[in-house]
Amino acid sequence: MLSLTVVVILDDVSVLGDIMADKKIIAVLGSTGSQGGGLCRAILDDPSGGFACRAITRDPAKEKASALAAQGAEVVAADLDDLKSLENAFAGAHGVYAVTNFWEHFSAEKEKAQAKNIADAAKAAGVRHVIWSTLEDTRPLMSTEDERMPILQQKYRVPHFDAKAEANTFFSGLPTTFLVTSFYWDNLYMFGLAPKKDATGNYGWAFPMGNAKLAGIAAEDIGKVAYGIFKAADRFIGKTVGILSEALTIAEMGQKLSQGLGIGPIHYHAAGADEYRGYGFPGADEMGNMFQIYRDFEREVLGARSAEAARSLNPSLVTFDQFIEQNREKIRKAMEG
Ligand SMILES: NC(=O)c1ccc[n+]([C@@H]2O[C@H](COP(=O)([O-])OP(=O)(O)OC[C@H]3O[C@@H](n4cnc5c(N)ncnc54)[C@H](OP(=O)(O)O)[C@@H]3O)[C@@H](O)[C@H]2O)c1
Repeated sequence: MLSLTVVVILDDVSVLGDIMADKKIIAVLGSTGSQGGGLCRAILDDPSGGFACRAITRDPAKEKASALAAQGAEVVAADLDDLKSLENAFAGAHGVYAVTNFWEHFSAEKEKAQAKNIADAAKAAGVRHVIWSTLEDTRPLMSTEDERMPILQQKYRVPHFDAKAEANTFFSGLPTTFLVTSFYWDNLYMFGLAPKKDATGNYGWAFPMGNAKLAGIAAEDIGKVAYGIFKAADRFIGKTVGILSEALTIAEMGQKLSQGLGIGPIHYHAAGADEYRGYGFPGADEMGNMFQIYRDFEREVLGARSAEAARSLNPSLVTFDQFIEQNREKIRKAMEG
């Protein structure tokens, strides 16, 4: 009986349209990226879940946007720097997934301005639920006189953390869930952070992390958690949800990588934070400060995130071992490069 009904519905496009119209639209920023992409795929993979994905991008013609459209997403153009475009993109939406991309411009002020645009547009559109992908303000962890790490961009310790936390206030008048994310394991292949092979054929890597544990997660799982939050809206509006999958030391990550990839041991150089900041790649000072926060304030950082919360919202949350298994070739390639 049920399958008969489905055939009738799929045969009649207008009825299908009505059913789509009954779904709650989630306007997803960063839909062509890691977090928003994960959320779009989670919505699209669950057609009977009651939600529809409106994938927002500056360039609807790009391949990742077309792939989402092919899966059933509505693709809409908007730019975080253009308030009007966001208002249009949020019109009629039930929810908004709000994420900014610091790494495109490296500016805390710009990140805050973009977050304000999102919040203002969400207010104008009258959306019922916003998830703001944020991070904690690291400045209260140290006095302003503390010289262990430099102040960056005039007033921040870790600009991409502190700016997101400052931006929380823009969302205060909205039905918002504040989602505190963790280090993506995908940074291994997306951000050049994988161990590298040296001239002797041995693998090694350096982080200013000592023996502290790094709160990690597969980027795709952040979107899946966000989907769980939209589904359980009433429980999470006005709440802060901090998530991780596993907290591992760099030595533990190296052991798992060498085992999962079937390679020899990976040498870990526990760099000093000043040494790491001096490596000179774009954002080395920012990353040095960030890892130093993870190291020096391990208890606070891990205390703000919960694997249980993440798993209850996303039961398919992957461990680091599973992540390695799923991404073996990409990681291998990054280690050779
Ligand atoms: N890497 C990590 O470990 C980590 C951990 C926690 C938090 N984060 C935070 O994650 C954020 C980035 O999210 P992500 O990794 O999901 O992004 P991503 O994969 O780098 O992709 C960036 C996304 O942002 C969109 N975007 C950028 N500028 C835009 C603009 N002006 N208007 C509209 N869309 C814009 C892009 O869309 P189009 O190009 O298609 O327009 C794209 O979808 C950063 O702020 C970072 O601090 C990262």
